[in-house]
Amino acid sequence: MTPAPFFTRRRLLKTVFCSSAALSLNLRPQAVKAAAGEDLHLMMIGDFGSMEPSQEAVAKGMQKYLKASGAKPEWLLLVGDNFYKPMPGGLKSERWKTGFEDMYPASVFPGPCPAVLGNHDYHDNKGGEQVQLAYAKQGGTRWTMPAKWYRMELGKLVTFLFIDTNLRSISGGTITAKDGTKIERNSLTADEEAAQWTWLKDELAKPRAPFTVVVGHHPVYSNGQHGDSKELVKTLAPMLQQAGVHLYLCGHDHDLQHLELEGLKTSFVLSGGGGARVRDLTNKDRKMPFGTAVYGFSHLEVNAERIIVRHMDANAKQIHAFEKKLDHSWAAV
Ligand SMILES: [Fe+2]
Repeated sequence: MTPAPFFTRRRLLKTVFCSSAALSLNLRPQAVKAAAGEDLHLMMIGDFGSMEPSQEAVAKGMQKYLKASGAKPEWLLLVGDNFYKPMPGGLKSERWKTGFEDMYPASVFPGPCPAVLGNHDYHDNKGGEQVQLAYAKQGGTRWTMPAKWYRMELGKLVTFLFIDTNLRSISGGTITAKDGTKIERNSLTADEEAAQWTWLKDELAKPRAPFTVVVGHHPVYSNGQHGDSKELVKTLAPMLQQAGVHLYLCGHDHDLQHLELEGLKTSFVLSGGGGARVRDLTNKDRKMPFGTAVYGFSHLEVNAERIIVRHMDANAKQIHAFEKKLDHSWAAV
């Protein structure tokens, strides 16, 4: 495996020191770590719940990467399409163990694992979204989904706002199955949509950490197969811009992307290579810093001055990286 680029000698020494300074270091609060000049590490996957060999390959790749770097992730971000296909038993399904608890073991990902809902989480199992909420609620797990939309603070560095992008115009409506039957697709209700946008506006108006990151399943902008989400461009994009949100993290397209749009403060990061079959990008017209259809995962390295975002393939080889500064500028690293 190619060593991770942040695996410098200085960092290696620091990591060795930190490890020998006791495991308790990793249990120190994030604010203390950050104040001590330590980076906080987050891992991210999207569109992973396929139970195909590719899901396991990416999971193993993340583990190899973390082992080589010595980084202890604070969180594992799960950006939706967490479970594809039928999940008999719901809350009692063995897929909770095989597809989450064991696939991303606590020894490597101590948690929490904040998750958002994707379209497959709503559609592949009737009431699937309620099952995912209930699994978090019953406790004893790193699976974190206190509501369909929620806020979490990463120490005093980053305010995370997790949203449910399964709007009626995106995930709802009636579709015709192959056998001709009409299927009414589940999504957020009109009331939920209104409540979520009010909540998001309120949270963005409240005091926030120096960095703000919004996480949803569907992309606002994407050069992948699904393209831009018109409703999110109309509704969400102005909120991100007005509030100076630094990053919008998502999945849905099965690829890895980094998009920058002229005049926009937010960098758009898509990490959808976690296990479902990858699909070639389709929009060749809009220039982007990076986009490729490959299985993989992402790594966020956070300190008080910048967030480094790294896209990694399933072999733990870095294929793209950039840093986002507090002033919203970005640069390749
Ligand atoms: Fe999706």
